[in-house]
Amino acid sequence: FKKVERVVCVGAGYVGGPTCAMIAHKCPGITVTVVDMNAAKIDEWNSDKLPIFEHGLDEIVFAARGKNLFFSSDIPKAIREADLIFISVNTPTKTYGRGKGMAPDLKYVESVARTIAQYAGGPKIVVEKSTVPVKAAESIGCILRDAQKNCPELKFQVLSNPEFLAEGTAMRDLANPDRVLIGGESSPEGALAVEALVTVYENWVPRERIITTNTWSSELSKLVANAFLAQRISSINAISAVCEATGADVSEVAHAVGCDTRIGNKFLKASVGFGGSCFQKDVLSLVYLCESLNLQKVADYWHGVIEINDWQRRRFADKIIAELFNTVTDKKIAVFGFAFKKDTGDTRESSAIHVSKHLMEEHARLAIYDPKVPKSQVLYELGLQTSPADVEKLVTVYNDPYEAAKDAHAIVVLTEWDEFTTFDFSRIHASMRHPAAIFDGRLILDQKALREIGFRTFAIGSAPDQAYNLFGTSGY
Ligand code: NAD
Ligand code: UDX
Repeated sequence: FKKVERVVCVGAGYVGGPTCAMIAHKCPGITVTVVDMNAAKIDEWNSDKLPIFEHGLDEIVFAARGKNLFFSSDIPKAIREADLIFISVNTPTKTYGRGKGMAPDLKYVESVARTIAQYAGGPKIVVEKSTVPVKAAESIGCILRDAQKNCPELKFQVLSNPEFLAEGTAMRDLANPDRVLIGGESSPEGALAVEALVTVYENWVPRERIITTNTWSSELSKLVANAFLAQRISSINAISAVCEATGADVSEVAHAVGCDTRIGNKFLKASVGFGGSCFQKDVLSLVYLCESLNLQKVADYWHGVIEINDWQRRRFADKIIAELFNTVTDKKIAVFGFAFKKDTGDTRESSAIHVSKHLMEEHARLAIYDPKVPKSQVLYELGLQTSPADVEKLVTVYNDPYEAAKDAHAIVVLTEWDEFTTFDFSRIHASMRHPAAIFDGRLILDQKALREIGFRTFAIGSAPDQAYNLFGTSGY
């Protein structure tokens, strides 16, 4: 394989776009082309308004675009000209057939492998960046090797190079990753291909942070990393229920526990449940893998992480209903935040969707405000979960949080946007129906200050303070 001068990425999504923008930014000697079958998305990448929002992304794209960063719909041409091809397409949980609701759908990955086989025309390093189950590289390799039979000038090496960026901090994570993981075949050709990709990352990542492993370790490590992260959240969320029942405070417990350097203090923030396109999908993929390997105990262990997450969302919605005197029918409830976390407009698997759905089932009227999520996206997500008629009847999306809260019986915080802490809650309280309640599913608001204003407050993981509010109606 020759030195990598032309990189192509198939899949211009949350991973492909930012990752390639960073490669182009850090490697002026490499030409990077991002392709996608969705031509409208490519047009957006070529416009002034990029299809995704990440701090620092616009600057890098606008500086490199047209110089060494290109977005194109001509997939065959890009593949023909590439030295190295990232596969960065989506691998969502299957919604049909075998493994429905558990296994990742690999049809997009396979289709890219077939397109590469068809148009390669010469030697290529093919890199799995999508998150895939262990041994997926074997299927890609099998398709590519078959193409080699009729065309001896073709030569392929398949590498695994999973992506660890988190949305909202993607550019920071890409610029300064904890580690880069590259897995490859343990043959001399495999080692050469691994080294070629190492050389690309070495443009900005210190060599000691670039880990090289065999292909299967790399593929499995990605699933395990996400499973461990999700497990920490489910662990602290499970403890949040114990705190609510006992008078312990989950933030104090997380701090005390996290000060043990063996445990560490990151990813211990109790919440209304984790969301995002990765955690649930990847834990389910690990569970499915374990079941396929007849490791039912291991599968059950990891499935508990998902069960606690679903339970936490349901528990929070039930708490809202109970504390609003056991009925939310026809009550206006302001929902602050719809994205799955702050600093992103992404709503995939957002806990807000699930909590909203539970409240809609009880015929609550939702007034939703999110600083980044467009109205159409809120309506689309809720339409998938309920029915377009229910959405039409029960959901209004606001651009102004004060308007959303006006005449509402309660405010429910479902995303930890910083701006929520700056709102004038005295003004909001005055405009609401009384008694006015706030349910903080993200632990970002000052409960004491809110109670002093007159709010009834409820926060995940702390017992209601009887001295200050009217809570304690759960047994009502
Ligand atoms: P995405 O849905 O945002 O983007 C995937 C893109 O691939 C889409 O634009 C789609 O049109 C395109 N595509 C699908 N099939 C194609 C084909 N055959 N040819 C050309 N284009 C095709 O997905 P994403 O969030 O970027 O995730 C991509 C992969 O990276 C997934 O496997 C995911 O698990 C993994 N991952 C995601 C994140 C994240 O934060 N989103 C982080 C780490 C890893
Ligand atoms: C995750 C992984 O962090 C990343 O390494 C991987 O590449 C993709 O999946 P992402 O889903 O973008 O990234 O965001 P992350 O910051 O991990 O948050 C996921 C969810 O967990 C969010 O809903 C977030 O609000 C929630 N969370 C996170 C908590 O509830 N508590 C925490 O302490 C941390």
